[in-house]
Amino acid sequence: MPARAKRILITSALPYINGVKHLGNLAGSMLPADVHARAMRLMGHEVLYICATDEHGTPAELAAGKAGQDVRAYCDEQHDIQRAAGEGFALSYDFFGRSSSPENAALTQHFAHVLEENGLIEERTSRQVYSLADGRFLPDRYVEGTCPHCGYEKARGDQCDNCGRLLDPVDLKDPYSAVSGSSDIEIRDTTHLFLLQSQMQEDIRGWVEASDDWPQLAKSIALKWLDEGLRDRAITRDLSWGVPVTLPDGSIRPGFEDKVFYVWFDAPIEYIGATQEWAHSTGADWQRWWRTDAGAEDVEYVQFMGKDNVAFHTVSFPVTIRGSKEPWKLVDKLKAFNWVTWYGGKFSTSENRGVFMDQALDLLPADYWRWYLTANAPEGSDAAFTWEGFQSAVNSDLANVLGNFVNRITKYCASKFDGQVPGGGAPGEAEAWMAGELETRLAALTAHHENMEFRKAAAETRAIWAAGNEYLTRAEPWVKYKSDVDAAAIGVRTGLNLAAVFAIIAAPIIPDTAARILDALGVPQDNRRWPDAADKTLMDALPHGHEITPPDVLFSKIEDSQVAEWTDRFGGGED
Ligand code: MF3
Ligand code: ZN
Repeated sequence: MPARAKRILITSALPYINGVKHLGNLAGSMLPADVHARAMRLMGHEVLYICATDEHGTPAELAAGKAGQDVRAYCDEQHDIQRAAGEGFALSYDFFGRSSSPENAALTQHFAHVLEENGLIEERTSRQVYSLADGRFLPDRYVEGTCPHCGYEKARGDQCDNCGRLLDPVDLKDPYSAVSGSSDIEIRDTTHLFLLQSQMQEDIRGWVEASDDWPQLAKSIALKWLDEGLRDRAITRDLSWGVPVTLPDGSIRPGFEDKVFYVWFDAPIEYIGATQEWAHSTGADWQRWWRTDAGAEDVEYVQFMGKDNVAFHTVSFPVTIRGSKEPWKLVDKLKAFNWVTWYGGKFSTSENRGVFMDQALDLLPADYWRWYLTANAPEGSDAAFTWEGFQSAVNSDLANVLGNFVNRITKYCASKFDGQVPGGGAPGEAEAWMAGELETRLAALTAHHENMEFRKAAAETRAIWAAGNEYLTRAEPWVKYKSDVDAAAIGVRTGLNLAAVFAIIAAPIIPDTAARILDALGVPQDNRRWPDAADKTLMDALPHGHEITPPDVLFSKIEDSQVAEWTDRFGGGED
């Protein structure tokens, strides 16, 4: 156990239900959340990692419409598909819920009721885009048109994909319906519930300013929003698919029969909802993770998301939570990511550019992708995906550095020492050098994981593997064997122990391969713990005489011909 075992709640932004996510989405929320969850578990902390599909609102309705499916049936199917894609990528959720769950509906309605009691919600009449051809209002993504800020012609009603600004559908120029394409549109009055965010401005600013644990990107985005001033916002929509708008007695609120809560109001509440879903399906206690009057005061809550989600998590959701004046847990650390770009451009489903999670797994095992996307995480800036970069990360880091080390030492042990960890020999200069490397580098690696610095964590992991190869070059057991078997034994024993350490430190990023190596070395589950940099026994921990078996080839190299084929198939390069 670490000096101070913590209780860590981890959530990654809930992926929209409309289709399997591409590698950019994975790299900017779910994957780093999983790497962090795994690292913290290995370090002995109690972790709860929660995610869910974000199933309401126009993205779901529009996609179901396109697929010619009833929206609930569509969501059922897509949820299972996304769950399978997550499993394929070894995402170690403790629970993968659904924002359409009864738990989330009840919580969403509860928050609306208490916010109204606290004077933070009122009914207002506002102007909305109405399609005469479709006979309905067109909220958010149901309307498209020209962005009033940058002139992009395919801006969606809620946000411009070109300049990233949040939009109000009535501000679009030349609007047309995303359902029918019709531009026979007028602006009509409709009544909605408004959350009076402007009243929470100072409260939220005080909280943001006091949050000194947030990485830089998140904090600067939050402060920018606060500087612009918080605007009251509608939290209901003229839609049928979503959480019904009720009165405290459970009946539908008069006038809101054809309206539901806005997807961005109920989605973050599903972080709590999914924890309740988990508790209901396992008998666990959700309150100790979320209620500060039930033990959650001690929880460290970490959120992962792309930068476009930061405002919703640093301002809107905290308005809901703090405005309730109930003892809910708030985020402690918020890790935001830039974009993974596709050869410098955007991933695009419609233009067949980029790779989606399910396609990626048809090409190569999850660990190959997990390694590349973590080593090149879009942390400080956007990061470009290229097939050449992927090929070189896999071939040089995984195959040449880690794969080669494990392969060399286990095969040699099998051929010269009957596959048994040899006793005999005593540590000398080479071992002292390696011990020094391990001590400083492990301390650095541990800190990178704790600080959620993913690129640095991957680079340090690789540097430790590389030090292992350097150690073997110095120790030369194969040369020494000829004259002094004991001198060779210490090299082989140290090498095998290093292989175990290398696998454990790799486990957050490449869990499947790590498990294969540890299985081959016969390391029992209980001993698969994060190594302590100060531990002097790391290089002599396996029992002498203990049996090992060389693993099958750990990584196969990516050939130039494969790069050429994939570039062709997935539209790389040509922009
Ligand atoms: N579905 C949103 C997106 O992909 C993220 C929702 S995060 C949540 O951008 F907190 F609101 F759930
Ligand atoms: Zn724009």
